[in-house]
Order: sequence, then C-alpha cells, then structure tokens
Amino acid sequence: MTAEATIPLTINNGALTIAATAGETLFQAFSRSRVFLPTACGGRGRCGLCRVRITAGCPEATETDRKHLDQEALQSGFRLACQTTVTGPMDIAIPEAYYTASDYRVKVTKITPLTRDITMVRCQALEPRQIHVEAGAWMFFHCPPYEGCPEGVERPFSIASDTRDKRNLEFIIRRNPVGICTKWIFEKMQVGDEIVLNGPHGDFRLHDTPREALFIAGGSGLSAIRSILLEMKNKKSPKKARLFFGAATCRDLYLLDELRDLEKNLPDFRLFPAVNAVSPGDDWDGETGLITAVLAKHIGDCSEAEAYLCGSPAMVNACIDVLTAHGMPGSQIYFDKFA
Ligand SMILES: Cc1cc2nc3c(=O)[nH]c(=O)nc-3n(C[C@H](O)[C@H](O)[C@H](O)COP(=O)(O)OP(=O)(O)OC[C@H]3O[C@@H](n4cnc5c(N)ncnc54)[C@H](O)[C@@H]3O)c2cc1C
Ligand code: FES
Repeated sequence: MTAEATIPLTINNGALTIAATAGETLFQAFSRSRVFLPTACGGRGRCGLCRVRITAGCPEATETDRKHLDQEALQSGFRLACQTTVTGPMDIAIPEAYYTASDYRVKVTKITPLTRDITMVRCQALEPRQIHVEAGAWMFFHCPPYEGCPEGVERPFSIASDTRDKRNLEFIIRRNPVGICTKWIFEKMQVGDEIVLNGPHGDFRLHDTPREALFIAGGSGLSAIRSILLEMKNKKSPKKARLFFGAATCRDLYLLDELRDLEKNLPDFRLFPAVNAVSPGDDWDGETGLITAVLAKHIGDCSEAEAYLCGSPAMVNACIDVLTAHGMPGSQIYFDKFA
C-alpha cells in the first residue's frame, strides 16, 4: 500500500463514510472531513478526549491509549483517534453529534476581563441567526491561522450564558500561558470580529432528579455551571443546590455579586467561594484553603446527593476522591475536565 492510498472509514454502520489517507491518524482524517472529535490538546495524546470505538479493523492499543483508557474500554475497541494510524479500512462508532453539529458564524460583541487571566467573550449569531443549545454544552472555537500557528486550531469552550437567549452566547475563558487558541483570543480577537463556532457538543447536563446538587467549579470552570444555574433560576427550580467556587487568590474570583444574587433568587441555593491563600490587605471573610478541604468541611454524608464538576483535571479528580470518600456513588458524579 502506498502512502497516498485512500482507505474507507465507515462511521456508525454507514451513516457516513470518510476517505482517509494511509499513514495519517484517525484524528487527522476526521478533522479534514469536519467530524469534530472532542479535544483539548489538539491531537497530541495528552487529553484522552478523542476516544472512538473501532468495531472492525481495530489496531493494537498504543502505550498512550493504555494511559487514558481502562482495560474494559480497550477490550471494547476504544482507541484514541489521535494515536490510531490508518493502515486499512475500519468501522467506527461515534456519537452522532460529532458530525451533526453545525458551524455558526458569529460576531464578537463584547470582551469583558474578569480576572488577570480570565475573560468573558460575548458573541452574536450571524449565520444561522439562532443557536439552540442546552445549559452545560460546549462549542469549538475555530482559531484562524496566525503567526506561530500556520494551520489554525479548534478548541472547546463551555457556554456560560442563559441558553434561553438563542442569539447571544457568552463564554468564560482562561488564558493558557502556552496555549495557541487562548493566545489568539486574548491578543488578537477584537470586538467586531467575525469568528466561527462549531457545536453544540457534550453531555454535561443537570439531571432531573430530586437529589441535592453539589456544583464544584475551579477558575474558568464556572462557565458551564453558570449556564446551568441561570437555567435553574429561570425554571424556579426548587432543587437544593450548593456551589463550591475555588480560586488561587481573592483576585482570581469573579462574578461573586451575580452568584450572591442567585442565593436570593433560587429557593435553596448557597454559595461557598474559597481561595487557596489570602494576602495581607485582602477583604476576605469566605473560606480559605484548598477546595477539597472546603468541600470536605461542608458536605457530610453525600450518598444521596449528586455532583457537577468543571475545572482542571487535577482539581476535578481530587474533588471526586472527596465526594467518593463521603459516600457519593460514581454514577451520581458528572464532570467536564478542562484538560
Ligand atoms: C469539554 C471542555 C470544555 C472546556 N471549557 C472551557 C471553558 O469554558 N473555559 C476555559 O477556559 N477552558 C475550557 N476548556 C479547556 C480549554 O479547551 C483548553 O484549556 C484548551 O487547551 C485551551 O486551548 P489553547 O489552544 O489555548 O491551549 P493549547 O495550545 O491546546 O495548550 C494546552 C496545553 O497543551 C500543552 N501544550 C501546548 N503546546 C504544546 C507543545 N507544543 N508540546 C507539548 N505540550 C504542549 C500545554 O501544557 C498547554 O497547557 C474546556 C475543555 C474541555 C475539554
Ligand atoms: S486529542 Fe487525542 S488525546 Fe487529546
């Protein structure tokens, strides 16, 4: 087989067929065909999000596959698309949303710095003119080519706004000090620019149960949780809810007034902001310490509660350990790791 040979990839029993080139990765073949796999590392094998199930023609797992996928997943044919080289035809199962999600041309209408490295970006839909999303979903930002990034990249960001507004979306975005897309967002993107979003994606949603909800957000992880809380407010949800919002210092917290207003507008909601460290001169009477310690102090037995976590993988993993130690079954824990 030559390096140029074209190889068919059959998606979801023939719902879609993609022509791949021998030697490229599944991730590359999918992105060329505008099938959007979740990724937060752009195909570098770091995030573990690009998993797909290969039902025929499945190759041996690589070491990186083994790092991100457990034995059961590997045996069921799951592989990381960015680690799978195409050498022959394959049948692959993926969620339909990966290829039914649409591109939206939007205009950036407002950029509001929230902290030293977190900003809120507001966009208005131009074409199509309405975006139907559910609270908790995320969109890919298409970062166009710029110097240092000749090909452009796509990165996921959660919707932070009230999803009743079908014309405008807000995002809460943290600058990654060495990130490609967030460098463009913070340094190049301006009010008035037209950009492309793709989505909606993801299955992070509030579950319709009578259980108490524990929301845990670190840094820009407040985004999806804010959208869910605004939805609860609109629906006048009686659900008991607690938000643990953690940041490194007082100046890394944001939107506290808005969140405190929710305490007045939601029947059973309480906010627990927490900072790792307080500096001399900080006007702070909230919790101090790691978010894990603050969580452990307040939750007690939580076998009957459910949890929603967003933030860095380290924060999410550490909080899941606390929840589990307090009796919460894994089946009641939902998260988006901002890898
Ligand atoms: C479902 C989901 C929802 C998300 N929602 C949000 C959100 O609402 N707000 C938010 O702020 N973030 C969110 N994120 C996280 C965000 O998508 C990532 O932080 C993203 O990587 C940022 O893009 P970037 O191009 O700036 O960084 P990238 O360029 O992708 O860099 C990410 C990391 O990759 C590593 N890296 C970069 N370049 C190299 C290299 N050459 N070699 C080796 N390693 C390298 C670095 O460690 C860096 O920290 C979300 C992530 C997911 C998965
Ligand atoms: S895209 Fe494959 S591991 Fe991140």
